[in-house]
Amino acid sequence: MTTPSTHAGTPALANLDSLYSQIAAPLPPVQFTGATGARYNMGAGQPDPASLPKMELIETLEGIFSGPEGDLALMYGDAAGFIGLREVLAAKLKRWEGIETNPKELLIVNGSNHGLATVAQAFLNVGDTAICEAPTFMGGLRPLRQLQAKVHGIPLDDDGMRIDLLEAKLKELVDAGTPAKLVYTIPNFHNPAGVNLSLSRRHRLAELADLFNFVILEDDAYGELRFSGEHIAAIYTMATPGRVVRSATLSKILSAGMRVGYLLAPEPVIARLNAMKLDGGASPFTNRLAAGYYSQHGDAHIHQLIGIYRHKRDALVRGLEEGFADAPALKPVWRIPNGGFFLWMRLPDGVDPVKVAKEAGDRGVAYVGGPAFFADGSGREYIRLAWSMLSEPDLVTAGHLVAESIKVAAHS
Ligand SMILES: Cc1ncc(COP(=O)(O)O)c(C=O)c1O
Repeated sequence: MTTPSTHAGTPALANLDSLYSQIAAPLPPVQFTGATGARYNMGAGQPDPASLPKMELIETLEGIFSGPEGDLALMYGDAAGFIGLREVLAAKLKRWEGIETNPKELLIVNGSNHGLATVAQAFLNVGDTAICEAPTFMGGLRPLRQLQAKVHGIPLDDDGMRIDLLEAKLKELVDAGTPAKLVYTIPNFHNPAGVNLSLSRRHRLAELADLFNFVILEDDAYGELRFSGEHIAAIYTMATPGRVVRSATLSKILSAGMRVGYLLAPEPVIARLNAMKLDGGASPFTNRLAAGYYSQHGDAHIHQLIGIYRHKRDALVRGLEEGFADAPALKPVWRIPNGGFFLWMRLPDGVDPVKVAKEAGDRGVAYVGGPAFFADGSGREYIRLAWSMLSEPDLVTAGHLVAESIKVAAHS
């Protein structure tokens, strides 16, 4: 008899493979270009490390542990999340966006990735049809893929998702007997494309949800980080109640490491989502820390971040403009977003993205290539640069290096 082994390629692991469910089939990993730990890392949408409010968080924590909340922070808590945090967030939604809500309409999740997955699981059966933008955020795409949903991507333009194309696709899917049950959209400072869904398109999307009977998953991870222009009302505020579940997060405005996101929906929907959540309850520890910090410093911190990220965006764009000054024909096409973290670029025709990635990697530059953001794996002519993590001087240099990589790749 052979002894079971724990090493890859051995009979024991081969047998294990046959036990995995279809849902546990491996998902493709996110492809980052350049070495891990790249000097100029514009890959992940990480918050600016220098902005993380560590001293204020220590003070908040001391306050929690020296009072009656200290024990509660370290025990199991309310699965829906600490009520104090839900109160703070309800008040923030009113202050920032005029959304009237209450803690019963909020569900705290372990980062909005978790919230997106929970909503997808709640509304989709394996093999159902879902729609997203093309491109879209891979964290939204992954749960759809895991559920083996038939995913259709709708192109974007300067005003966000092409709602005319969405409507045509919805009709086509009804005719084919595979109506879409869920439409996933990122209306503010889109990841990766940087665009905003216009107000008129938001209204039309809300109407289409009633006409075609689907749920809208509105993912707002960057809405607070607006550098210019007017706030555009959430789809949540204009749709029939229950048609929209809105997802948001503290990752970009406080700390990604705290893993605090939140879903907003009418109470019966939140109750269903809460019952489906399999995380053993939102963390009483990070929820109290976030609530304590946010209630004292949150709004002021966000206003500070808006200035920080605006300057970072400008530094990256400056570096790129300088880098292409001597080769305007090779300059990629990009739109300058008025908020968020990302610059989305289309490489010039004839420039091989694999060569660009190699040249960039050799120069210590990391970014994410386009195919990670398309449900059908297309988009190799695009790259996404995150300006959020690097310092301004590094972003100028990174812009020069990206330009150099494209120029070298074009001539090799
Ligand atoms: C559009 C969008 N949604 C959701 C998230 C998930 O953030 P988290 O899970 O940290 O809340 C991100 C993070 O990059 C994002 O860009």
